Amino acid sequence: MDVRQSVLDRYSEGAQQRVEALCCPVDYDARLLEAIPDEILERDYGCGDPSRYVREGDTVLDLGAGGGKICYMAAQLVGPGGFVIGVDMNDDMLALARRHQGDMGKKLGGNRVDFRKGYIQDLALDVGAMERFLAEHPVNDAAGYTRLHDWQAAQRREQPLIADASVDLVISNCVLNLVPDADKTQLVREVFRVLRPGGRVAISDIVSDEPIPEHLKNDPALWSGCISGAFQEEAFLEAFREAGFVAVAYDKWDAAPWQVIEGIEFRSVTLTATKPEATPCLDYGHAVMYRGPFSEVSDDEGHVYPRGARIAVCERSYRLLTEGPYADQFIGFAPRNPGEPRTFCAPAGTRRPAAETKSPLAPTCDSEGSCCC
Ligand SMILES: C[S@@+](CC[C@H](N)C(=O)[O-])C[C@H]1O[C@@H](n2cnc3c(N)ncnc32)[C@H](O)[C@@H]1O
Repeated sequence: MDVRQSVLDRYSEGAQQRVEALCCPVDYDARLLEAIPDEILERDYGCGDPSRYVREGDTVLDLGAGGGKICYMAAQLVGPGGFVIGVDMNDDMLALARRHQGDMGKKLGGNRVDFRKGYIQDLALDVGAMERFLAEHPVNDAAGYTRLHDWQAAQRREQPLIADASVDLVISNCVLNLVPDADKTQLVREVFRVLRPGGRVAISDIVSDEPIPEHLKNDPALWSGCISGAFQEEAFLEAFREAGFVAVAYDKWDAAPWQVIEGIEFRSVTLTATKPEATPCLDYGHAVMYRGPFSEVSDDEGHVYPRGARIAVCERSYRLLTEGPYADQFIGFAPRNPGEPRTFCAPAGTRRPAAETKSPLAPTCDSEGSCCC
């Protein structure tokens, strides 16, 4: 049996009844669980809690939503101004999640969740719509194949399952490890595509501390059990950096491994990352200072920040470093006299003279001691 089929079979079984081997103990916010039906709670196969990253008003996409538990938790957090989309490829899981949609909508004061059939490595393809098309136009020959191919191209272009730049937060709970290795790069690119600039990622998953040998990767039970398809811990972060994300980090790291197989530790982690803003890098005269404690740090865009130095940055970097995920690491200095913006071209590590970034409250005095504000 190949790993794709084993994932389908295993989670079909997991949708009908609780499969103990797939469960990983997680502390969720009990208040958010109160509204959720027992049959969803007991068929929970997550390994972390990405719902902690949801903000009011967010449009959230949950990759591999399973029975819908994290989606229904997120729906409570986004409130009436937000929306949650759960994507899964498994009909039995989708049926479990959708069965409670009406009741959950009443409990939450509105239906804010949609469950869509799709492959998370191909978020443009609407698999439910494709199955309806195939029921009417079965593929029996090359002409049928071409017709399907054309239909797919038009569907992706005109009615993608998840549109470009349409999501504020992509979350996932123990699913990326189930995606075939050959599709993992495409999967992370898809996450980047669907997020709006400035959008965030919070992925709870299993990682391995060492590369996983082929004989473990070829074991369908270990693959569908969230083990042998795990990213190696360094490669997981690197995959997001390569796709263009910044502020890529392990926000949660379980010290104790969930499983140890042939000496390889498999543990639950939560990766967070941000899609950079698409605005141009314009120089208004801003600077930032890295607080320490390290002698210097460099970011995912190649900038270097020595401890304690006022480093010249463009306005976009200034906002990322002082308002975004790095905010507690940096002190921001707005320009004292913002001029006309210029394209930022100072080499990495250029210092901004203190005279250009003094607090506007500090009086300026000349050599004779006469000061003005
Ligand atoms: C371990 S379960 C986790 C379910 C859910 N996130 C939770 O926390 O309970 C994995 C889920 O991901 C789905 N899945 C696995 N690979 C997928 C893929 N390539 N595309 C879409 N769904 C996938 C499975 O059908 C299953 O529902």
